[in-house]
Amino acid sequence: MRPVVPDYLTEVLGDVEADTSGVLAQYIPELAAADPDRLGAVFATVDGQVYGAGDVDTEFTIQSISKPFAYALALADRGFDAVLAKVGVEPSGEAFNQISLESDTGRPFNPMINAGAMTAHSLAGAEGLSPTERVERVVHGLSSFAGRRLTVDEAVCASEMEHAHRNLAIAHMLRSHDILTEDPRAVVDGYVRQCSVLVTARDLAMMAATLANRGVNPVSGEQVVDARVVRQVLSLMATCGMYDAAGDWATQVGIPAKSGVAGGLIGALPGQIGIATFSPRLDVHGNSVRGVSLFERFSSDMGLHVMEVPPTALAVVRSNEVVGRGPDAIRVLHLQGGIRFAAAERVVREVVDHPPSEYRVVLDLTLVSSIDDVARRMVLEIVRRLTLDGHEVYLVDPETILPDPEPGDGGRVTVIDDVGHVASTTVHGATYGGVPS
Ligand code: DON
Repeated sequence: MRPVVPDYLTEVLGDVEADTSGVLAQYIPELAAADPDRLGAVFATVDGQVYGAGDVDTEFTIQSISKPFAYALALADRGFDAVLAKVGVEPSGEAFNQISLESDTGRPFNPMINAGAMTAHSLAGAEGLSPTERVERVVHGLSSFAGRRLTVDEAVCASEMEHAHRNLAIAHMLRSHDILTEDPRAVVDGYVRQCSVLVTARDLAMMAATLANRGVNPVSGEQVVDARVVRQVLSLMATCGMYDAAGDWATQVGIPAKSGVAGGLIGALPGQIGIATFSPRLDVHGNSVRGVSLFERFSSDMGLHVMEVPPTALAVVRSNEVVGRGPDAIRVLHLQGGIRFAAAERVVREVVDHPPSEYRVVLDLTLVSSIDDVARRMVLEIVRRLTLDGHEVYLVDPETILPDPEPGDGGRVTVIDDVGHVASTTVHGATYGGVPS
């Protein structure tokens, strides 16, 4: 059977192809000379499957899409405190190249506008790196996100540097506030090199998928940055990634995103997919016109808006039944789905509201797909309390969804592969209520 997703992508590209509105970025002569008709879209899943249609392997410069990744590297290399001291996390509601800083601290509002991005660039790598070493750190880091070695387009870089007066002005202002502590021209040069890294839509989708996959590149398996860094980066993409169009984007599309003036656009859907589109004509905000339309379609066609309320967690208790009779009776709670706080609370409530009268209690996790940290602690606490109430507790966990269960403080649990493996009552001698002493 032909795969479904590439056919869908081809169809949606066909629908937006006729829209030739918007203009190429004019302020970088090399970009103004690009082919305006290029069009491509790629989905990369968190388990490494890549689907694409159109111009998926055409190289173009990453531009501002480098910003969230360089920010991630700064957070990973210098820690949150050092980075937050220099770059804020508030949407500016202004254009990407606005010359504005927070009035009290002198910090740029966020790392997605140029002022914040140049500051983040200066914080990538260890303290004291030379400008060349820092660029190498950034290119190497971006390459790890993409899963292949990326290179800089020297022609685009030189072309932008010749017209970088506005970014130089911003950098000098940052220097005057001691947000930048080194030569402003060297920082602008490094930042422009970062923006001139060549990527394809395929690379960008993989970079986005690495964010969607908690910082682990789905193909290489490399943990590029940790999950806490990813959460910070995705939050900033969600609130500031589309500049002064961020509110429109948040309501219409609802996917943490970042655009670049060469026509790239990425979206990272936590736990699901990385998406990239490529179409060089831009709207007044500097975002790709057809890229925005494509994302609007993807979001509405496939329910990708992150605020789309998922099915409630109430279905976690698939059934609560008694298997066997008399002294052989076993209370079995079959659980299902992904268990996070609300689902775990529902399991707790089931046990509290219907205290089992059977000696042996089984929590069957066979149909559970995941348990996060808080749910794990809550499930183990149920096990502990059941033990203290005198029950023998079993976890049916053939896929080791809940590894190393250690209820602690008097709790005890036996892990088995199948409800049929629960020890016979003769071991225990009687039913609950009569036995444990
Ligand atoms: O700083 C600049 O002007 C560019 N090198 C990057 C700007 C950019 O991509 C803005 N995003 N849409």
